[in-house]
Amino acid sequence: MLNTVIVTAFLPTDEGVGVAADAIKRGELAVIPTETVYGLAANALDSSAVDKIFVAKGRPQDNPLIVHIADRDDLFNIAKEIPPAATALADRFWPGPLTIILKKSSVVPQNVTAGLDTVAVRMPENEIARAVIRAAGCPVAAPSANISGRPSITCAKHCKEELGGRVSVILESFDCKFGVESTVISLVGPRPCILRPGAVSPAELGSVLGPVDISPAVLRSLEKNEVAASPGMKYKHYSPNAEITIVDASREDFISFINADSARFALCFDEDIPDIPPEKAVSFGSQNDPLSMAHNLFEALRTLDLRGARTVFARKPSLNGIGLAVYNRLLRAAAFREISL
Ligand code: TXA
Ligand code: MG
Repeated sequence: MLNTVIVTAFLPTDEGVGVAADAIKRGELAVIPTETVYGLAANALDSSAVDKIFVAKGRPQDNPLIVHIADRDDLFNIAKEIPPAATALADRFWPGPLTIILKKSSVVPQNVTAGLDTVAVRMPENEIARAVIRAAGCPVAAPSANISGRPSITCAKHCKEELGGRVSVILESFDCKFGVESTVISLVGPRPCILRPGAVSPAELGSVLGPVDISPAVLRSLEKNEVAASPGMKYKHYSPNAEITIVDASREDFISFINADSARFALCFDEDIPDIPPEKAVSFGSQNDPLSMAHNLFEALRTLDLRGARTVFARKPSLNGIGLAVYNRLLRAAAFREISL
């Protein structure tokens, strides 16, 4: 068990920023806020610091990490053979919730990329994250700050509960703005390909790049022996203790289905709440507001565990905009179980 120091920062000039940066400089781990989810950060150029990330999370060694930078030009240090499409995306979406996969440069240790010859790079929008990276003086490898397989974390309280004793510093800040992880796009194949949907939508990417593929693994499970374009896609993910099933149904049918059996919990929309007994219903956002669903999803999954829910039925979100990312995470939390009524 480590003695975890808890500090706060609500402005990039707050003292906590320096405490988190110093830990990273010393080769230790710091939990830091970003606009997507909290991240578990280490010096991306120090392979023994990066090893600590895999240990603290219990993360499989073959799942590569995202390298976070504070200045756009650092991209040219981390990656090589950078195509015009990459700089066009950086111009339009950085700083922001977009991760770009490119050929890796030799400065990036093998364990960051899990032995791949490509590297994931992202420049976060969150100013506190960028201040930490800048003060640490190095690019920062950071997966989501959760134990591997569990839902990602969007608030400092849950970071403390889950990672206290496993990291040197937790930098407490505001809840994360978006609430789902960054969009991941690969630029190393014949056509740009979205490996993980996020707040930057396929339509927005298409407006910069022209035709963009979406990896089939975004909306279905991998076949036996199929190679994952993004290794993270093959693992169990976002799993609460409850068994979740997505339900494609009208509001009325969903509500009657839940109310027909006292053991059924609902992961529902705000609008459904008045018609379901309160102890059985947890809302993850408003029906027509996918941003609110992204914001609340991971916390709602954890709330269901706290309520002791064993069997949960979730309303199917719309797939528009960030809704695709919400559905992608929910599908994995549900181990791809979906029914229609
Ligand atoms: O929003 C985010 O991206 C958050 C915050 C902390 O920045 N980070 C995050 O990291 O979600 P993580 O490790 O939970 O997810 C990274 C995903 C994994 O699915 C991983 O397999 C994929 O990115 N990835 C990383 N490097 C890759 C590469 N070279 N090729 C393909 N996929 C890669
Ligand atoms: Mg993750």
